[in-house]
Amino acid sequence: MDVVLVGLPGSGKSVVGKRLAHRHGASFIDLDEAVERAAGRTIPEIFAQDGEPTFRAFEQRAVEALGPADPSVDVVRVIAPGGGAVVDPRNRWRLYRGRVVVWLDGRPEVLAQRLRRSVHVRPLVAGRDPIGTIRALAAARERFYAAGRRLNGITEVPAVVDAVERLVGEAVIAPSAGTVLLRAETRIGSVVLGEGIAAVEVGAALRRLEARRAVLVSEPGAWAAAGEGLAAAMHADGWAVERVLLPQGEAAKRLAVVEAAASELARLRVERGEPIIALGGGALGDTAGFLAATYLRGIPVVQVPTTLVAQIDSAIGGKTAVDLPEGKNLLGAFHQPTAIVIDTTSLRTLPERERRGALGEAVKMAALGDERLFDLLETAGDAIARGEAAAFDAGAVAELVERAAWAKVEVVLADEREAGATTGRIALNLGHSLGHAVEAAAGYRDLLHGEAVAHGLRAACRIGVELGVTPADRADRIERLLDGLGLAVEPLPYSLDVVLGHLAADKKHAGGRLRWVLPVADGYEVRADVPDDVVERAAASLLATRSPA
Ligand SMILES: NC(=O)c1ccc[n+]([C@@H]2O[C@H](COP(=O)([O-])OP(=O)(O)OC[C@H]3O[C@@H](n4cnc5c(N)ncnc54)[C@H](O)[C@@H]3O)[C@@H](O)[C@H]2O)c1
Repeated sequence: MDVVLVGLPGSGKSVVGKRLAHRHGASFIDLDEAVERAAGRTIPEIFAQDGEPTFRAFEQRAVEALGPADPSVDVVRVIAPGGGAVVDPRNRWRLYRGRVVVWLDGRPEVLAQRLRRSVHVRPLVAGRDPIGTIRALAAARERFYAAGRRLNGITEVPAVVDAVERLVGEAVIAPSAGTVLLRAETRIGSVVLGEGIAAVEVGAALRRLEARRAVLVSEPGAWAAAGEGLAAAMHADGWAVERVLLPQGEAAKRLAVVEAAASELARLRVERGEPIIALGGGALGDTAGFLAATYLRGIPVVQVPTTLVAQIDSAIGGKTAVDLPEGKNLLGAFHQPTAIVIDTTSLRTLPERERRGALGEAVKMAALGDERLFDLLETAGDAIARGEAAAFDAGAVAELVERAAWAKVEVVLADEREAGATTGRIALNLGHSLGHAVEAAAGYRDLLHGEAVAHGLRAACRIGVELGVTPADRADRIERLLDGLGLAVEPLPYSLDVVLGHLAADKKHAGGRLRWVLPVADGYEVRADVPDDVVERAAASLLATRSPA
């Protein structure tokens, strides 16, 4: 087996790694040294001469050169990547899968002291405020290190090596735990993302809540795809499992469904403080979340999203709701999950249209200013939509989910209750004003939410260009990406009057003023002064019949 030691500069990866390898007669691979050998220069020289991106490219090649994990039971290789190597999702995918990852954690003050004594020059912490720099690195990277098993790395080296060995021994006992790629404790719930992790991570979340059983709330589609397997794995792990099934799809989002499900929870004698597990797509998560928000005035919920929409959007942020005959999501509450367990394995069974449609939301996240996500969608978006095995196996799906989901986490953390008028959560409305209007015109049947957002994004680009807010090349890039993904390419068969009617209804709900989120070169701008005729032209441009009916 391979052991990967991760942690900040100064955490002892090299010294612990060498000692561990020596004890096992294993080889020790220091990836920074591999980079220096390949480049024929020291790392400070690479930084000084070519900058960090060149160093990162060398680093990526060194990670690739490791090849697949060694499956032997004994420790065969001990790998110590540089502290920043794991920031790149693809490096993490290649490094963590099939390997035992151990995080050597340590207080920034101690690490800074160690670095002062070290003979190695670390370019990123060589400045005047090493403790501050290390704190900043810790805040930016902790979620990547925390995917591994955490150890206090700041004790005597032999003791740390012993502790690593104990963790490695435990890992041999449970080799099927999947791969955690990211783990974070946040105000809006703990977030864990990976492949094949659902059973272990849901179990861990339930243990943290001191739950006595696993009450799974799901629907037939998600149950067949992911629920049965999860229930069986949890049962095998000793959990008593209860199942509450809601209707499939949007049919779940009705008050009558919540009432029936609440009665079932009462029959099961679900008590205050006892969590439910919401397993499914956005419709299931919204309804089960609302159930959790209201049953006994609020019980904990663990969200286990199984669709791409849910993994990158609806399971994050605590918005729960059901629909009324008068409109979608009219009855709801903010109720943050205690944990969000994102297992990308479940996306393999999702119908292609669901994956492709969800990319409308991913394009929105990219357009809000994530250039790496933009590149990824341009190069791999179509393969991801098709569900090609290579897109899963190469880590493209996991990278997409991580980038889009984490972007949403950060937006929500900055503005949990959507209080910001021009920044914060409102950014997520990019593409949603006309998106909602065409979704409503389609009667919430003919268009998936993400497909509607794709139309809305095109409209936002056109409005932005006409107002001089969106540079033409930015709008082109967004529209070309949508073309490439096959999103919002056909004109819609609705009448302009109907679409504008829905927009007017949204405007009324918004207090008479629609705030338009419009793309700019590297992000967005919010405008409340978009003239009606500009909106009308953009709406008409989406439709097959461009004049009022
Ligand atoms: N709360 C929020 O912030 C938020 C954000 C965006 C969307 N939403 C809501 O989300 C809903 C849409 O969510 P959705 O697109 O996930 O739809 P959905 O929940 O209806 O799921 C789509 C379909 O996929 C099936 N399915 C689920 N998991 C599967 C799997 N792993 N394999 C195969 N099939 C599977 C379901 O049975 C269903 O038929 C809408 O109601 C929307 O309002 C909420």
